[in-house]
Amino acid sequence: MKNILVTGGAGFIGSNFVQYILEEKDDVFLVNLDLLTYAGNLENLKDLETDTRYQFVKGDIRDRELVSRLFDEYDFDTVVHFAAESHVDRSITDPEVFLTTNVLGTQVLLDAAKAHWKLEPDNKYSREYRAGVRYLQVSTDEVYGALGKTGMFTEATPLSPNSPYSASKASADLLVRAYYHTYGLPVNITRCSNNYGPYQFPEKLIPLMIHNAQQDIPLPVYGDGMQIRDWLHVKDHCVAILDTLERGRLGEVYNIGGNHEKANLEIVRLILNELQKPESLITYVQDRPGHDRRYAIDNTKIRSELGWQPSYTFEQGIHETIQWYLSNAEWVRRITTGAYQEYYAKMYNVSEEKGKPT
Ligand code: NAD
Ligand code: DAU
Repeated sequence: MKNILVTGGAGFIGSNFVQYILEEKDDVFLVNLDLLTYAGNLENLKDLETDTRYQFVKGDIRDRELVSRLFDEYDFDTVVHFAAESHVDRSITDPEVFLTTNVLGTQVLLDAAKAHWKLEPDNKYSREYRAGVRYLQVSTDEVYGALGKTGMFTEATPLSPNSPYSASKASADLLVRAYYHTYGLPVNITRCSNNYGPYQFPEKLIPLMIHNAQQDIPLPVYGDGMQIRDWLHVKDHCVAILDTLERGRLGEVYNIGGNHEKANLEIVRLILNELQKPESLITYVQDRPGHDRRYAIDNTKIRSELGWQPSYTFEQGIHETIQWYLSNAEWVRRITTGAYQEYYAKMYNVSEEKGKPT
């Protein structure tokens, strides 16, 4: 692993990963290709501005010419593909961009990797690639659909996505799988559970609730708040990705989960408690359409094959995360002005007269 293309490296998980990999590895050169949508923020990476091992490129993964030019210029041997539209609620109101970015964008990257890495690119029967190349697709547990009260997602669980977001991620996974089976492209897919930690955009549950509680504005809990997610600290996720790049068996899927199942309401109460805010701020709002009730990852495969395991307890991780948001109030302020206010008002049906989500 020498020349790495990271897509979506200005987003939440991507920026944590870029920082992590450059801390861990001295001898790599990393290009971060990111369109800087509402979710991309170069402030997350400001410490790297003078690092000669790092290059930012503003651009779209759907741009074939650009992606191919970058492969020519930087001679990548590794691709870690994070770039995506990632928010389920946005996919419900505007699915189209989820399909173009998450599905077609993935296909552009796969095509570029195949064209640049295949030893005989014009021979359709050849399955020989340059030594040491690898494409890693960062996917999600949401492709498996929803669980009832019991059971866990394994890598063999059938794909059964329920939202336009998860359908687009599942489609991308199927393309990655097809490029492995048809062309022999050296790939891995990782499917992880809900991440939390520094630099997460406050449209997602944990940073949104921290932000609202700090502002003393209502905390919008969907439905009865008893939906369950399996929380994974973003730094544990980054370690799992590097382990997969270094030791994952080619063509394999690895589930990554923190073994921390929590109901949304439990998390919201914990945040209010830590910030010493009253539970009266909790406001039950109309449920998300098609809302998945429960996710839980069985991480046996990555533990036993790659020796990975989560290092954070949820209690430690959430405490540190809340403290990070408190210490980085200026970062939060800058991204929650302007377009964020419009998004919030529209998504949560907040009008000036009502002043609270419905
Ligand atoms: P994010 O929304 O915070 O960041 C996405 C990044 O992709 C942004 O920097 C954005 O500018 C960039 N981007 C979007 N469209 C692009 C395009 N067309 N071309 C180039 N860049 C583009 O997302 P995240 O939460 O960091 O998630 C990263 C990846 O991990 C996604 O693929 C997501 O599906 C997956 N994932 C996320 C979670 C989670 O809990 N956040 C869990 C499982 C899987
Ligand atoms: O499971 C992995 C997935 O986790 C990733 O693939 C997605 O990219 C990521 O966004 C996340 O999806 P969720 O839909 O689970 O995350 P979100 O933070 O949007 O919501 C978490 C839970 O909290 C979910 O049950 C919905 C609920 N919720 C969320 C928001 C934003 C609320 O009750 N109120 C809210 O305002």
